Amino acid sequence: MTALEQTPIVPLIQSEDPEIAIQIAEALKAGGLTTLEVVWRTEAAMDCLEAIRRDVVGVSVGAGTVLTPSQVKEAHARGAEFIVSPGLHTGVVEECQKLRLDIYPGIATPSEVQLATNLGLKTVKFFPAALNGGPPMLKALASVFRTMKFMPTGGVSAANLASYLEVPSVIACGGSWLTPNNEIDAGNFDAITKLAQEAVSIAGTIRPGN
Ligand code: 3PG
Repeated sequence: MTALEQTPIVPLIQSEDPEIAIQIAEALKAGGLTTLEVVWRTEAAMDCLEAIRRDVVGVSVGAGTVLTPSQVKEAHARGAEFIVSPGLHTGVVEECQKLRLDIYPGIATPSEVQLATNLGLKTVKFFPAALNGGPPMLKALASVFRTMKFMPTGGVSAANLASYLEVPSVIACGGSWLTPNNEIDAGNFDAITKLAQEAVSIAGTIRPGN
């Protein structure tokens, strides 16, 4: 089973501090979310990923915002269990395939899904989901690319999560709405657990089996 099949929601973690990242991961886990993406948008991102892998039991952790093949190599060395990219870069995909790491590259057009298919991929990120047409665009893509699975990310929230999960080709939704900076800065990790619980409960109404 791939990490994305475990839970249909993938929260993003962005932190400058591995100790904070651990607390965010614990809070998400307490709310029922166990597939986590640490985005490479801070200097400490790989330290955060490594710390979560070391200290938080029972979660799968991937590296997000991975842009280059050399970042793939480093993320793999630091313990990333999967890779997410905002766009589709052949070198990034091939490096992941060489390392047998699951890769979810971002796509926004049919041409990109076709390229992903021809690179042997079965799941892609749909990014930025809301700006690229949201659920209706996903339905249109799924009607042509009948076996491709999508992870919409970018503009997903508790308010529209159900409309994405209702699309059968959506394997999971990603997003930062579960880890708001104001709550993290205030040390209010219970709020993160509550947001995770809310998302799990919405997903449960659409996909009782997950
Ligand atoms: C990503 O990296 O996937 C996006 O920044 C997430 O978008 P969001 O902040 O709208 O959830």
